[in-house]
Amino acid sequence: MTQPDYIIIKALEDGVNVIGLTRGNDTKFHHTEKLDRGEVMIAQFTEHTSAMKIRGKAEIHSSHGVVSSEGKE
Ligand code: TRP
Repeated sequence: MTQPDYIIIKALEDGVNVIGLTRGNDTKFHHTEKLDRGEVMIAQFTEHTSAMKIRGKAEIHSSHGVVSSEGKE
């Protein structure tokens, strides 16, 4: 099997949420990880995780490049 993608999330403010969404017929939140400023999470898409939602100001590094999420003003 090919290796699932890794993505790296770097929080640029306190309280960034990384939310994992389930794979399959229903799409639900299954895990929320809270990152404070400067913290990094390295995560994969898995059998259980088909999507991730990032809430708050962060840098997201993936095979697609780097994208920034914005926090609310
Ligand atoms: N138990 C989850 C899984 O195997 C752990 C996980 C992997 C996760 N990637 C994630 C949780 C991304 C949140 C976000 O799928």
